[in-house]
Amino acid sequence: MQKNVTGISEMEAKITLHPQFTIGSVDPRLFGGFIEHLGRAVYEGIYEPGHPEADADGSRRDVIELVRELGTPITRYPGGNFVSGYNWEDGVGPTEKRPARLDLAWKSLEPNTFGTNEFMAWCKKADTAPMMAVNLGTRGSEAARDLVEYCNHPGGTYWSDLRRQHGYEQPHQIKLWCLGNEMDGPWQIGHKTAEEYGRVACEAAKLMKWIDPSIELVVCGSSHAAMPTFASWEATVLEQTYDHVEYVSIHTYFGNPHDETPRFLSLSDDMDRFIKRVVAVCDAVGAKKKSEKKIMLSFDEWNVWFHSNGKNQESKDWTVARPLLEDVYTMEDALVVGSMLIALLNNADRVKIACIAQTVNVIAPIMTRKGGGAWRQTIFFPFSATSKYGRGAVLRQAVESPFYDTEFLHYGVMTKLENVPTLTSATVYNEEAGEIVVFAVNRDLKSAIPLTVHLDGFEVERVIEWITLHHADLKAVNTENDEPVQSVPMEGAAGADGVVRAQLPAASWNMIRVKVRR
Ligand code: AHR
Repeated sequence: MQKNVTGISEMEAKITLHPQFTIGSVDPRLFGGFIEHLGRAVYEGIYEPGHPEADADGSRRDVIELVRELGTPITRYPGGNFVSGYNWEDGVGPTEKRPARLDLAWKSLEPNTFGTNEFMAWCKKADTAPMMAVNLGTRGSEAARDLVEYCNHPGGTYWSDLRRQHGYEQPHQIKLWCLGNEMDGPWQIGHKTAEEYGRVACEAAKLMKWIDPSIELVVCGSSHAAMPTFASWEATVLEQTYDHVEYVSIHTYFGNPHDETPRFLSLSDDMDRFIKRVVAVCDAVGAKKKSEKKIMLSFDEWNVWFHSNGKNQESKDWTVARPLLEDVYTMEDALVVGSMLIALLNNADRVKIACIAQTVNVIAPIMTRKGGGAWRQTIFFPFSATSKYGRGAVLRQAVESPFYDTEFLHYGVMTKLENVPTLTSATVYNEEAGEIVVFAVNRDLKSAIPLTVHLDGFEVERVIEWITLHHADLKAVNTENDEPVQSVPMEGAAGADGVVRAQLPAASWNMIRVKVRR
């Protein structure tokens, strides 16, 4: 076996860390969720009056329990594409007076029996804070201004008093707002050019902040990295909004439609590159403006999404809660989700907000059956563990890893991909708990990797736990009655003399928690 310069073999992986070399601290909002009026996310998902688990508001208690376990400190709402055709006024006040509308984004019937106030009540129960989007598709600054007044102004004005009449005496105090959704996409209701969107976003932002200066705003970036307008969109939009917003959004979904798993597992590296490109554009605009301010990123849609593609026609148009985007996730999808979380952690200095898209039934870690149970998909497990333990300062890692080469179909042409690191990892130091937490994915489909983690500047007390997500069948899935893919405790990780050792199983996601002293 070949040895490299530092003495480890070509089959081993080594991470070296030091407490003084940090990337940034983790904002808990990195582990956000998303509930859109889409498919069965709201109706038959979080809200199902008459279900045996429903509370007095119609919220499913079993789903609330799972959302708490998942650990999503913020939840984006009400869309997504849906928000670009939404009249928020339709969803407040006495339910019997609310109009049913055609939702053009998802060809569904929107009954409006669940709206802003119901969502706010649900957030409290689910231990999550709202991230509210305004409609800049069919509407504009006026409707955005009115919604902020309705939600955040204490009282004594038309919209704030209407909220009080609706039974909500205290303002909702919603701190985080999205200025529309994916406005660069031709599929969007009210799609705009960057110039058009930049103008309306700037004006909406001004009015919203004049009503409540404490709010933070997310302006739309590109819908994905391959958008033809990528980068020039961000530059033009930020030219117009830089002084009025705190974050630019970024979205990414990955899939494995041609069953090219080695390539699929490498895609989180593309996510990392996409983040760095968006950061570069933000900083270029900042430099041009000679601004001291740094725009942060809100990765407010990310996940695996491809299993349900082409299946919309299986459910009837213009019905309430027509099943859409119900991806059933496999073991390998969970490896990609775990790796995407690693990419987010490793960019914690600039990505302050991220929302897995979505939370329930629609490309989601949690599934429900109408009148039946609720269960955890495979992707639930890396998410819940990273949300729970990925807190503190992300450490800069020096990583030595084996590499692999693979091929994949790119627009019909077989394309080579070389030097993909077999190990992808992120390490977080939680000073308060005295813990180092290593998140690591072994992308090798056949062989385990011996991993050593060198904790320079720390004294290792003991390995608290090592959990792994691994299944012999990469296509294994969870169902209502059986969750065969879930993280399990592992034996055999040992720490001595500042070094932690573990043998990461082939095709596995891992979390190793180590008690340390400094
Ligand atoms: O999350 C599903 C959809 O994906 C959202 O509505 C939209 O913003 C994106 O294209």
